[in-house]
Amino acid sequence: MPRVILHVDGEIIEQEVKENSNLVVLAGIKQFPKLKYGCGMGKCLKCACEIISGEEQLSSPNWKEERMLGESAHNGIRLTCQLTIREDIEITQENIAEKIKKEKDSIKLTK
Ligand code: FES
Repeated sequence: MPRVILHVDGEIIEQEVKENSNLVVLAGIKQFPKLKYGCGMGKCLKCACEIISGEEQLSSPNWKEERMLGESAHNGIRLTCQLTIREDIEITQENIAEKIKKEKDSIKLTK
């Protein structure tokens, strides 16, 4: 089973999940604690995370991630509600709003 490591609010949550799990679905049924999320449908950004390791196992960002995250979706920031976990992965939700803002600002500056 894939092992998930989540950094959030100064804590590190480490847990095995079934292959092809969605962490927001698991959080919704109280089987994955501490994960921040909201709509579960790619519309609110509350579940955004930065991938620390294991990005290679993920499918490419979908249109919802691209709409919400812009270029950040291709720079290691993803919407957890849109991810299917197939192998070990380490993610962080620490300071994620600031990271997204910084990424968007740097894109504006280079245009
Ligand atoms: S939970 Fe709302 S975008 Fe993922």
